[in-house]
Formats: sequence, structure tokens, C-alpha cells
Amino acid sequence: RSDATAEKEMTLAIIKPDGLYDNYTDKIKNAISDSGFRILNERLVQLDEDAAMSFYAEHSSRSFFSDLVSGPVLIMVLEKENAVADWRTLIGPTDASKAKITHPNSIRAMCGKDLQRNCVHGSDSLQSAQREISFFFKEKSPGSGSMGHDEL
Ligand code: TYD
Ligand code: MG
Repeated sequence: RSDATAEKEMTLAIIKPDGLYDNYTDKIKNAISDSGFRILNERLVQLDEDAAMSFYAEHSSRSFFSDLVSGPVLIMVLEKENAVADWRTLIGPTDASKAKITHPNSIRAMCGKDLQRNCVHGSDSLQSAQREISFFFKEKSPGSGSMGHDEL
């Protein structure tokens, strides 16, 4: 449903460097709109390692975090009823090589390769979505310091 009374929710989607590099942007955007999401805002940014590290704060003690999203990324705020859970469902499981078998219609099955290179990100909870959206879109006061992502 998309009537005015339906409670809308926002989530953060990222097309990671591997997905951009392989030119999956249009296919991913088609899947987004076909599934009833609206793209409220988008930015193409260059994420450095420090920014990637603070974005993936919950993983910062693990070895895989830093180069996952370091590089050019397309950040999108998606809106829809139940956006957080529905976007996670649409992207599919973390390991894209497994997604190709178990969730062949998922975005990660389409554009991902393996556990590391899974081409897209999705917020895992409403709370994460709010944190991640402000990470990229909240106005920062002058002098508050660079978040380490420059507009491309
Ligand atoms: P995670 O938050 O567990 O997965 P998801 O993206 O599905 O929420 O992990 C964040 C990213 O870290 C994941 O998309 C790919 C990478 N990653 C690895 O490279 N190796 C791993 O073992 C895990 C769990 C994740
Ligand atoms: Mg996660």
C-alpha cells in the first residue's frame, strides 16, 4: 500500500565500489523502484578508510571492514512502508555466492560475487538506519571536522 495513511520508513542503501565499478547502478535502481521504494536523496561520494571504519563501527575490530566501502559509493535514502526490513529482503543474504543459490532474485545474487564483494549495503534496523542516514546527510557545522567523504 502507498496511501497517505501508511506509515513511511526510511533506510540507507549504498551501492558499494564493486557494484559501481561493474555498472550495476541502473539495474539496482530499477529493482528499487519496481519494489515500491522512493529514492528521497542520493549522493555519490568518495569514502576514505577512516570514514569507512566509522561507518562500520560495529565491525571495526574485525579485519574485513576497511576496504569494503572504501572508494566511490552511491548513497541513497529509500522511503517506503517497512523500508528497513523490505530493503534487507530485497538485497538478500550477506554472502552473495550463497545468495545466487538460495535467493536468486535478490540484488546481491544479481550483482555480488562473494561474502566480501556483495555490491550493496542496507541498514539492519531502524536505529541503524537513522544513524547511517545522519552519517551521510546531516548538516555538519563548520569546524566540526570532515567525515572523510568528499562529493564526487
Ligand atoms: P554485516 O553487517 O555482517 O553484513 P550485511 O552487509 O549483510 O549487513 O557485514 C558488513 C559487511 O562486511 C558485509 O556486507 C560484507 C563484509 N563482511 C565480510 O567481508 N566478511 C564477513 O565475514 C562478514 C560477516 C562481513
Ligand atoms: Mg550489516
